[in-house]
Amino acid sequence: MRIRKAKEIDIPEIVSLTQISWEGATIAELLEKKYGIIGGKRWYEYKGEEIKSFCKNNLDKVLVAEEDNKILGYATYYIDENRKVGTVGNNAVHPNFRGRGIGSALHKKVLEELEKAGMEIALVSTLEIDKPAQHVYEKHNFKEFARTIHYSKKLK
Ligand SMILES: CC(C)(COP(=O)(O)OP(=O)(O)OC[C@H]1O[C@@H](n2cnc3c(N)ncnc32)[C@H](O)[C@@H]1OP(=O)(O)O)[C@@H](O)C(=O)NCCC(=O)NCCS
Repeated sequence: MRIRKAKEIDIPEIVSLTQISWEGATIAELLEKKYGIIGGKRWYEYKGEEIKSFCKNNLDKVLVAEEDNKILGYATYYIDENRKVGTVGNNAVHPNFRGRGIGSALHKKVLEELEKAGMEIALVSTLEIDKPAQHVYEKHNFKEFARTIHYSKKLK
């Protein structure tokens, strides 16, 4: 398995991987569970669109984990040059390849990229239900410092 920068040609594979990898880890899925299908599309289609758009606009900030010419996972990041704060973005590993250290390897590489870019602080956030992600972040010595609460309300 190797980690490399994503290329334009990888985008469709990253999007398909997105659609099968985010169960139990998005607000969009929680909303769909609460209200039913929203806006005519499934939560994973929205997630795929979000990642596609990020890749199109920020391909240099997308890393992929590849083995035998297949993309098994990816991680994105953001850089705030002014504040010198880097943020770990969306990251996911194919469900069949979890628990092999791929998520951790991607995460480590993102942190290296943030350091290389001169960032002083790294941020990452995740849902309370997403225990594997929390485990990975805490394993890399991230410390919790705040919580967010998500409210929703049905409009007429
Ligand atoms: C988070 C994610 C990327 C991790 O990928 P991965 O390749 O399995 O990661 P790793 O193998 O490096 O590490 C997973 C760790 O989580 C642990 N883990 C798995 N399920 C767990 C659970 N329910 N509770 C606590 N820890 C758990 C594993 O034991 C492993 O820990 P270890 O390295 O100490 O043994 C993957 O679970 C995923 O794609 N999740 C869906 C998308 C997502 O949630 N992304 C993060 C959004 S913030």
